[in-house]
Amino acid sequence: MALTGLFLCTFLVGHLAGNLQLVFSTGEEGKRAFNEYAYFMAHNPAIKLLSYVTYISILFHIVDGFMLTIQNKKARPVGYAYNKPGANSSMASRNMAVLGTLILVFLATHMANFWWKAKVSEDKFPLHVKEISFQQGNEMTGQVQKQTIKLYLTTAGNYVPVDGFIVKNKTELYEAQLNAQKVDLKMGEGYKDLHSLVFAFFGHDKTKQGFPINDLALAGLIFYVISMLVLGFHLWHGFSSAFQSLGVNHPTYTSWIKKLGYGFAILVPGLFALIPIVIFITK
Ligand code: HEM
Repeated sequence: MALTGLFLCTFLVGHLAGNLQLVFSTGEEGKRAFNEYAYFMAHNPAIKLLSYVTYISILFHIVDGFMLTIQNKKARPVGYAYNKPGANSSMASRNMAVLGTLILVFLATHMANFWWKAKVSEDKFPLHVKEISFQQGNEMTGQVQKQTIKLYLTTAGNYVPVDGFIVKNKTELYEAQLNAQKVDLKMGEGYKDLHSLVFAFFGHDKTKQGFPINDLALAGLIFYVISMLVLGFHLWHGFSSAFQSLGVNHPTYTSWIKKLGYGFAILVPGLFALIPIVIFITK
């Protein structure tokens, strides 16, 4: 539990750093920067491997947690006659299983809303597609026709209508399209617009009047903020407890590890919660 828990803490730091770009990078450039980052994370082999370690760690952490809770219940099927738990344990430490289960509920919805759409359901996902119109002349008839084609924006910020061919202006675009027709090449793949996905999820419709009580984005915001509170409580005990389980017990260091754990438990979930709050208010 300790090893997987600490590994998941490092995942949280990385995930947070990446997602904070949603708040700090603004405009079209910011959008592209975030999508490029997401593309890199999804395609880099080392990061892919790290992703699998994350999935396995989550699974082990959950299974271990359930088994530990069952063992503890079996070890003392009848409760203490006199029980004053607050005297020597924190509320968080006594409710780790409940907090963990709530985080599991959060993770299930989070994966369904973001991970599934980003990684699995290709078809319904909004790709970063741009439509470009240009004039096309017909040499035989002398007529000029307006053409519109769809292009995928690459991570480098170029439009790719043909595999391996990068377009810099409209003439090249037109030639590329003609070449594509001649040799029947497929359109190159661009990146998925994860930025728009997250903003569509948390951004509330400002055109609606009054308190947005029926706004799904508000429900999403409240759910995320409460889930981050739960995560904070889980980490409040879990962070330093992991070091203790690994045998790190020292008169000086232990008090510092506890302080570090409390800081981590406030800062990381706090900043995670800030992301939907900022998107909800500003979008
Ligand atoms: C507001 C905060 C958050 C946002 C905007 C966010 C956004 C995203 C997005 C867009 C993805 C899919 C793309 C990808 O796989 O990289 C994702 C995946 C994921 N998120 Fe989050 N996330 C947030 C908070 C969290 C928290 C607090 C946790 C854990 C408790 C978490 C756990 C995960 C996991 C495990 C994945 C799958 C990662 C992978 O495939 O490697 N996320 N998140």
